[in-house]
Amino acid sequence: MWGGRFADGPSSVMREINASIPFDKKLWRQDIRASLAHVAMLAAQKIIEAEDATQIIRGLNQIAQEFEANGITENLDLEDIHMHVEARLTEILGPVAGRLHTARSRNDQVATDFKLWVRDALDMVDAALEELQKALLDRAEEHADTVMPGFTHLQSAQPVSLGHHLMAYFEMIRRDRSRFADARTRMNESPLGAAALAGTGFTIDRGNTAQMLGFDGPTRNSLDSVSDRDFALDYLMAATQCSLHLSRLAEEFVIWASQPFGFISLPDSYSTGSSIMPQKRNPDAAELVRGHSGRIAGAMQALVMTMKGLPLAYSKDMQDDKPPVFEAHDLLGLSIAAMTGMIAEVEFRPARMRELAESGFSTATDFADWLVREAKLPFREAHHVTGTVVALAEKQNCGLSELTLEQFQQIDARISEQVFDVLTVDASVASRSSYGGTAPIQVKAQITSARKVLGLEN
Ligand code: ARG
Repeated sequence: MWGGRFADGPSSVMREINASIPFDKKLWRQDIRASLAHVAMLAAQKIIEAEDATQIIRGLNQIAQEFEANGITENLDLEDIHMHVEARLTEILGPVAGRLHTARSRNDQVATDFKLWVRDALDMVDAALEELQKALLDRAEEHADTVMPGFTHLQSAQPVSLGHHLMAYFEMIRRDRSRFADARTRMNESPLGAAALAGTGFTIDRGNTAQMLGFDGPTRNSLDSVSDRDFALDYLMAATQCSLHLSRLAEEFVIWASQPFGFISLPDSYSTGSSIMPQKRNPDAAELVRGHSGRIAGAMQALVMTMKGLPLAYSKDMQDDKPPVFEAHDLLGLSIAAMTGMIAEVEFRPARMRELAESGFSTATDFADWLVREAKLPFREAHHVTGTVVALAEKQNCGLSELTLEQFQQIDARISEQVFDVLTVDASVASRSSYGGTAPIQVKAQITSARKVLGLEN
């Protein structure tokens, strides 16, 4: 029924469904590193002979060189990366290779390897996010005084500083980095030595292997150690949250690059043309960042579903933990790099931003606030008067600052000449100088303190 592919019967299906080597070969460096620590500990504890340990260490280093130079030849019969390393070690050393697996199991081995891998992944993401923050800071500083429309409901609301808008993303990335840092702190305990599930009767020193592998210490419960994949989920959840931020920024780029907005011109390096419409410059990279966030959230959901019904301790379902993490990590790395490049290279169009900021009666709130402050109206009444003024301007097809003083005074006699001072977008933006507000003076202060946080010169 399955044709030629499975001609040799169910065992070939088993071979294929059982194997994780096609994806877990990515863990080879971590696998060898953990084995080197384990064998050194076994020798130090006199669980194996020093000469045997020396041979095993030499063999493992040779395998690392081979894998580095030639990659890994997959053999589905050997199931996973742990068996590939052990099989090669046996080819090189003969039976002494078998001493390496004393007092451990693939269950604590895979938990250790994968944790080491995720820990490295966290460090890479953190470094990439710092680069994105630097790019945001540079562009925010350049455009602290650039006025653009601020939106709610994607309707023009109040004018804001473009630098302020960019710094909003800086804050999101700041929280993302703190989530990844939390995950790293929480996961940094070594499962090695939990063995299959119950610990071991050998006099191992788990504190020693933990230290050699850069962990803060050993995990405290062997059952939990081999069945815990929280660290992978923490990574995926932080990655999902981060990718949502990147997706929102990407979406802004898509909107801003559209002709009706015209707020930015995307660099050629991050756009594509159309095969049929010569005028097109499509924001493909931004759209893919937006798209990738769906796949990253999907990867997170996949591992949540894998883990949700598993009893203690290890179950083979857990072998499926790696593909979603590897996929999410690749997609996240690309997304961060693409957004960093686009932020650094995008050409902003301040004139167009100003033009739109000035339309849509964007200083109506400033007008209402002026009535409260200077003409002493209660805010509710000021809101009503402002509504009448906006209706008039709309009827006259002009901006608020283009109405005459007489027209203002016909609506409310308490309005004076000074009102014109608050009706420009620059005055509006400059006035919002409350802590965290959009006034350029505030934005620049936030940029300065952000640079300090990152340890950068100003
Ligand atoms: N390939 C397995 C995995 O990735 C390694 C652990 C196997 N343990 C076992 N008891 N079969 O999860």
